[in-house]
Amino acid sequence: MRPSSFLFVLAFGLDAAFARRAAPRATQNPAGVTGTRKSSFLKNVAGIPPVPPAAKVAATAFPVNDIQGDIIVGMQKPKELFYFFSIGDAASFKTHLAKDIAPILTSAEQMLNTTQQPLVLLNMAFSQAGLTTLGVLDSLGDTSFTLGQIKAIQTLAEKSDGWQQEFKGTGIHGVMLLASDTVDLINQQVAFLETTFGSSMRKVYALDGAMRPGALAGHEMFGYKDGIAQPALDGFGDTHPGQLVVPPGMILTGMDGDSGVRPVDGWMTGGSFLVFRQLEQLVPEFDKFLLDNAPIVEGKTLQERADLLGARMVGRWKSGAPIDLSPNQDDPALGNDVNRNNNFDFTHDGLDFKSDQSRCPFSAHIRKSRPRADVSSNISIMRSGIPYGGEVTAAEAASNTTSQARGLAFVSYQSSIAKGFEFIQKAWVNAPGFVFGKDVQPGFDPIVGQNFGGPRNVTGLDPNDTHKQLTLPLEFVVSRGGEYFFSPPISAFTGRLVA
Ligand code: HEM
Ligand SMILES: *[C@@H]1O[C@H](CO)[C@@H](O)[C@H](O)[C@H]1NC(C)=O
Ligand SMILES: *[C@@H]1O[C@H](CO)[C@@H](O)[C@H](O)[C@H]1NC(C)=O
Ligand SMILES: *[C@@H]1O[C@H](CO)[C@@H](O)[C@H](O)[C@H]1NC(C)=O
Ligand SMILES: *[C@@H]1O[C@H](CO)[C@@H](O)[C@H](O)[C@H]1NC(C)=O
Ligand SMILES: *[C@@H]1O[C@H](CO)[C@@H](O)[C@H](O)[C@H]1NC(C)=O
Repeated sequence: MRPSSFLFVLAFGLDAAFARRAAPRATQNPAGVTGTRKSSFLKNVAGIPPVPPAAKVAATAFPVNDIQGDIIVGMQKPKELFYFFSIGDAASFKTHLAKDIAPILTSAEQMLNTTQQPLVLLNMAFSQAGLTTLGVLDSLGDTSFTLGQIKAIQTLAEKSDGWQQEFKGTGIHGVMLLASDTVDLINQQVAFLETTFGSSMRKVYALDGAMRPGALAGHEMFGYKDGIAQPALDGFGDTHPGQLVVPPGMILTGMDGDSGVRPVDGWMTGGSFLVFRQLEQLVPEFDKFLLDNAPIVEGKTLQERADLLGARMVGRWKSGAPIDLSPNQDDPALGNDVNRNNNFDFTHDGLDFKSDQSRCPFSAHIRKSRPRADVSSNISIMRSGIPYGGEVTAAEAASNTTSQARGLAFVSYQSSIAKGFEFIQKAWVNAPGFVFGKDVQPGFDPIVGQNFGGPRNVTGLDPNDTHKQLTLPLEFVVSRGGEYFFSPPISAFTGRLVA
């Protein structure tokens, strides 16, 4: 076992032991965290589009008071706990669901309107095993969801060896998402929820997410600003230049443009499938690779050349500035400007679209996961994850070796897992031939492309010779597993889920 996973298991074991010791607090009957806010707990990070204004959204036909809030708030939460549970006695669990949980689930409307925002966001979603346990036997119209994420590993080109044990079977029935500006508020709400459910719910696993500190807020663990490019739901609030407008049914089940076959009574309308992935990031190893393979560019320091390689792998500089608009150096003003930082499609006058990678490589993460002008397609997911684990320590940086697990608690929402997350992972980022029709095979997405942990060939990274192939010896992002969930509309918590 690698030291990092050993520490992880140890930490989890202690946590479980602590939870057992703390069990008697059930008799203390803590109150739920109630109260309203004067200002939104969502953190405004320059360059990450803010949530749409409540007034604009109120004027639309969207059932915003029925859609769970996390689906539309993206990556702006300061702290978030993922609490994975199993259901004990289904009848008792359902009683609590309808009576105690439904009233405190946070809707999209509440998240957009600060005067309605709770101190702690609470959302809840269920796996297929969870719905079966509840006796909800309808087909939700999504085969990937029905099978569960562990069944997808072969086609996702990953191995289960590194998976967190809890994700390997069907023991996770659901997940609660709790988000706030402080861990304290989240813990208070967890205590309330555990007391309320009593033995009808058991914690199986938990993962703490947090924005990175200070100026790194909004940046993922490799250092790049994350959460910039999100699809806009047609008719819902503001759009920014370059944003992909998709039919709402691409993200929300039962809405316009949803091609899935859903139960006829419409109880799924306004829900969304939630893909959770614990993606560990080997940050010191990644940084060393950039230094060791930095392209030769006259007039740049070694660090600047390493930064250029990293930016070409991602398709953006650390500030969020797209390399398609600023190919040679970072431009923080561009990265911070929501009206410019997403306004590109990889085409330029006089640039040969088939062969010219002097700006964005065909293999860059943002080009592989959203090919813009390369393909005519609306394939899109709403990303709502958050980093987990601590900052890289001085010892880790000096040794070029990860010893404390950190990464991205990846969350995506879509109305079809096969056409959303799985399609992007399988047909695009993992497919060396994609983007098709270029003068060179692009190879894997160097950030998230998977090849069962084996080496990955990539072209386009050296601006001097874009046909040159670089072999990435290891995956810098390692899947620790996850699960597929359905995030139902809030009305289902007093309706179909408890019928
Ligand atoms: C640890 C793993 C990951 C890291 C570090 C990462 C990092 C990033 C960064 C820095 C961006 C650019 C900023 C932005 O537009 O928000 C981005 C965009 C994006 N990522 Fe990832 N990502 C990861 C995993 C994934 C996975 C697993 C998928 C889907 C299979 C994915 C899909 C996307 C998409 C669709 C975009 C937006 C592209 C666009 O519209 O321009 N990412 N990611
Ligand atoms: C925000 O919520 C308050 C309290 O419910 C309400 O009075 C106000 O009209 C809402 N604002 C908008 C723009 O919907
Ligand atoms: C993409 O979505 C837009 C907006 O809803 C729609 O007009 C267009 O037809 C869609 N394109 C494809 C290829 O589905
Ligand atoms: C290409 O490589 C040469 C040396 O091999 C170097 O002088 C030049 O600056 C490089 N050009 C670019 C655009 O990287
Ligand atoms: C870490 O990697 C850098 C870049 O390759 C190298 O200069 C340094 O010597 C390495 N440190 C150790 C302890 O291996
Ligand atoms: C990567 O490239 C090397 C060298 O060209 C080749 O031997 C190997 O088969 C390639 N690997 C894959 C997975 O294509």
